[in-house]
Parts: sequence; structure tokens; C-alpha cells
Amino acid sequence: MSKESIKSIDARLDHIQANILKGHGRRFAAHIFFSIKNGGLQSFLEWLPKFDVTSAKQQLEDSERYKRLRLNAVNTNFVQCIYFSYSGYKAAGWEPWAPDNSAFRSGMKSPDRQKLLSDPPVTAWDNIFQSEVHGMILIGHDDQNLLKERLLQLDAQISSFLSFQIQFGRMIRNESGDGIEHFGYVDGISQPLFLEQDINRFMNKNHQPLQWDPSSDADEILLAMEPKTGAQLGSYFVFRKLEQNVKGFKESEEKLAKVLQYEGEAEEIIGAYAVGRFENGTPVLLSGSEDLEDRLTNNFNYDEDELAKKCPYHAHIRKVNPRNAELKRSGGGANNRRLIARRGIPYDDYGRRFLDEENDVIDQSHHPTKDVGLLFMAFMNDIQDQFEFIQQKWANHADGPTQNIGIDPVIGQTNLGNEAMQQWPLTWNSSVKVPADFHGFVTLKGGEYFFAPSLKFLNDPIA
Ligand code: HEM
Repeated sequence: MSKESIKSIDARLDHIQANILKGHGRRFAAHIFFSIKNGGLQSFLEWLPKFDVTSAKQQLEDSERYKRLRLNAVNTNFVQCIYFSYSGYKAAGWEPWAPDNSAFRSGMKSPDRQKLLSDPPVTAWDNIFQSEVHGMILIGHDDQNLLKERLLQLDAQISSFLSFQIQFGRMIRNESGDGIEHFGYVDGISQPLFLEQDINRFMNKNHQPLQWDPSSDADEILLAMEPKTGAQLGSYFVFRKLEQNVKGFKESEEKLAKVLQYEGEAEEIIGAYAVGRFENGTPVLLSGSEDLEDRLTNNFNYDEDELAKKCPYHAHIRKVNPRNAELKRSGGGANNRRLIARRGIPYDDYGRRFLDEENDVIDQSHHPTKDVGLLFMAFMNDIQDQFEFIQQKWANHADGPTQNIGIDPVIGQTNLGNEAMQQWPLTWNSSVKVPADFHGFVTLKGGEYFFAPSLKFLNDPIA
């Protein structure tokens, strides 16, 4: 990415909301789904400019201060953001300024989107997502009690004109302190990078020439044109509550290990074949066991593993980011076009056991079948070209991006029968493959498409 495009982002940091160019990183987050009550519009419009939305610039300054002063949780700052659905733009009287992406305008609940993505019926979603959602407020903090206090204050301000429900997210960690998702895998490793400091850190850590260059052009894949300001200051935001059946995933892993005749520790490779990384982050492309020293590396591509002898084609991370190779063959367009800025956080609606509450370390021997999962969130320039393309054409498709490889074992959704089966290497680096079906452990419980407007817009949204 050119120096000019980095500079042009710098000039916009005051206007772009926090959490878009870089994840907010707070331990606790409240996701407040709201709709404007009948007769509540005026009060909403009066309240909005008083709601303190964090800018990207503020976020960077806060995180610099946090590191410099080595602050503890109570002394960190809140991060506050607000996003609107298309029905939210309409309810607020801003229809002339609504972004024009057609998936955004249809909404995630619409029958066309549901069919396209093979999503479960809306009637099976959590109540909170079944009715019309006008927007989402995000409030994050490192201290749970301070977050609760802030929510009580917010409730006092908004409950007369907004009806709302809250979905909580909380970071969870493994014993090494890495952020994980509920199946137990380190998450949030591979991201497109937009800011000079993040790009420099990556470049300094990895020898050139790079196998994978995550530096990305924000105007191409992240920021979207905002009709009122006429500038690329906003971003489309996809929210999906994805329930994880941890017990089912682990049992299937064991069953498949028996078929492929792995025992004890060696069983772990089945999960790595499903995800593309071992639980501790080690890419299965680079090692057949969890012992790679640079386990969180993101500097690799699949060019040398064309026959998928080490990392199966179906592996979640290879499906959703084929890193050049398959794209060149399948004509998938410019590689970076499909990248998304993931900002998810795990949720736990009914209390999974924590081994160490203070450090968010969960008891991984306790395997829930429901009520835990991932609040999948991602920012992007275009919902159809990015999130929907990945989910529909790659994850849900037995032929995506390479022919006849089965669906994504983590997030693939399909009505197909056997065609969905994946091909599992008999041993690491072997071309002998065993067909088996592994899917259905992640279920959509609801979601919506939103737009994150700029602070410029939020300060003066009236047409
Ligand atoms: C409960 C659902 C999900 C789970 C458990 C999950 C888990 C993971 C894990 C463990 C990684 C590897 C760590 C990393 O590179 O950050 C990963 C990477 C990734 N996931 Fe997911 N994920 C889920 C849903 C999704 C969805 C819905 C999408 C998009 C449609 C998605 C897109 C990605 C992408 C783009 C990467 C980075 C791949 C790379 O660049 O190597 N994930 N996910």
C-alpha cells in the first residue's frame, strides 16, 4: 500500500469512528440493539449529538496512553460507537442520506439474503433480532463494573424514546493469555492492516520478501462512501450472533480421529484440519503438530501446498482467505478485495465456567452445546463483494474457491447432502484423502447489516 493512501487515512482519523481501522480490544463490550419508539424521534435526535462517539484518533491516543502509563483496567477509557440499519436511517428521517448498498438496504432478515446465505429461518433467531432493529450502540471497557454503571446512566437517558436489548461480549483466553473463541482456538490473528504503525510492526517482524502482505488499502476494502458527507468516512458493518456447539465439535473431532487412526495428543490435528490452525495458533500448513515456535505467524500462503496435503482446502482459514493461490486459478478477482476487518468477541449467555475469572481463562474441559458463541462482527467496503461472497461462494459452497473440496467445517451452512463432504489428509503431508462430513456446529441466532457513519455526519445528520 502506498504512503499516500496511509497519509490520506491520517487526515480522516478525526471523522472515522473507533473500532473500524483497528479493533477496540476492550475485555467487556455491550452491544445495545435499539429501535426508536413511536413518538420518540425528536428526543432521539436531540440526544444523539450529546452521545460521545469515540473517533479513530481518540482510540489511537487512548491506546498509546494505556501502553505508556501501563494503566490498569479501571483507568482505561470507554470506547463508544453507533451504527444504523437501513430501517434505522428511515426511522430517523435520514432516508436521503442512506448508503446505497443493496444488501444493506434489504437487511439480513429479508428472504433474499436468507436464501442466498442458507441462513436458518428468522423464527428460529433470538427474539432480540426477530423484530426491527434500527441501530446498535457499542460500549466497551476493561472493567465490568464501570461498564455496568455506564449502561445504567445510558438507560436513564434513552429509555423514554428507545426500546433496546443488550447482548454482552467478553474476551476469553487460554492459559497462555491469548484471546480465543469457544472451540478453544486463538482468534484475531490474521487481519488486514491499515495503519502505518500496524504495518511497520508486521514488516519489522517478518523477513522480506513476504509470503503474505496484510497491508491493505482502506479505501478499497474498508471504508465506504457516505452520501451526506460525500466522502469515504463510513463503513458497512455486519453483525451475526453465531452459537457454537462445543460438545458437538469436540465429539466429531474425536470420531474423525478414530477413522483416521489418530490417538492421544495427535487427535488435535483433526481440529487443525478443520480450522487451518491448531488451538495455539500454529498454522497446520507449516507444522503437523503444535510445536511451531512462531505459532501466531501470519506470514504464509498456500502456493507450496497446491495439493492441500498439509492444510486442507476446506480448512476455515484457507476457505475464507485463500491467500492468492486459488484466487489466481478461479478468477476470484483481486485478492485483497475479499478481505474483511473482523471485530468479533465471544459471548456467553448462561455462564461458562472460568478457571481464572480475573484473567478470563475459561475451563476448556466443560463443553457446552449451546448458549455460547461468537458475536461475529466485521467492517467492509461492500457487503455483497466481501462478507456475502465469502459466506455464500466459499464457506457454504463445496466448490469454493477450489472444485469439490466440501464446505467450511466451521461456518459452512448448506442444504446439500454428501456433496458437502470434505477430504481429510490421512496423515500430514499425504496426498491420500479420506472423505468425511464435518459441519453444523455453528448456528446463526440473528443479526443485521449496519452502516457506521462518520462523526461529521453524526454531529449534523439532518437533511
Ligand atoms: C463461530 C464462528 C467462527 C469461528 C469459531 C471462527 C474461528 C476462526 C479462527 C479460530 C480463526 C483463526 C485465527 C485468525 O486468523 O484470526 C479464524 C480466522 C478467520 N475467520 Fe473465522 N470464525 C468464525 C466465523 C467466521 C465468519 C462468519 C467469517 C466470515 C464469513 C469468518 C472469517 C474469517 C477470516 C477472514 C479469518 C482470517 C483468515 C486468514 O486470513 O487466514 N469467520 N476464524
